[in-house]
Amino acid sequence: MSELKKMTAPPSTAKRIVEVPEMFQALIDARGTKGRFVGPDEVDSPWVPFGDNAAIKHLAFDVRNNIYSNILWMKGPSVIGTHKHRGTVVMMCLEGSARYLEYGWVATPGSFIYEVPGEAHTLVTDHPEGTKLFGWMQGANEFYDENGQFVMTADVWWFMDHYESYCKANNLPINPQLYI
Ligand SMILES: [Fe+2]
Repeated sequence: MSELKKMTAPPSTAKRIVEVPEMFQALIDARGTKGRFVGPDEVDSPWVPFGDNAAIKHLAFDVRNNIYSNILWMKGPSVIGTHKHRGTVVMMCLEGSARYLEYGWVATPGSFIYEVPGEAHTLVTDHPEGTKLFGWMQGANEFYDENGQFVMTADVWWFMDHYESYCKANNLPINPQLYI
């Protein structure tokens, strides 16, 4: 029996491409898909206005799993109204700061946020320059007005429509890298 070794550091630091064995390479080539890359420029994915004080840079749409990813930019002190999640959210604060009225913490650059189905909350940034939040989201977001009345569900189709409508209106190409 061979002894199992615990990895305590990267097993190689060689700066070259290393061929590794793969039993199913032909299938992966024929049936697999490719990873994606979206650069930081407007041509890769534009900032699409979301109201007067916010914009969204769309990064990924997965129609099989109702997953969508983007950067939300709130451009100054502002509120994005109460929404309830029916899926999970992985979020990272990139710039500025953000919080939810419902919780006691404030996210600053490097902060990690995890949101779960059933949570309803109200997003606020008090930072003079607002915030940028990277998000990897799954499932539906239900948006409510200030009286708690349901307005609409935003899921992968709403986010895709938000991106594509803006591209069409501004004569921008649709970036196939966003469709995972
Ligand atoms: Fe949320």
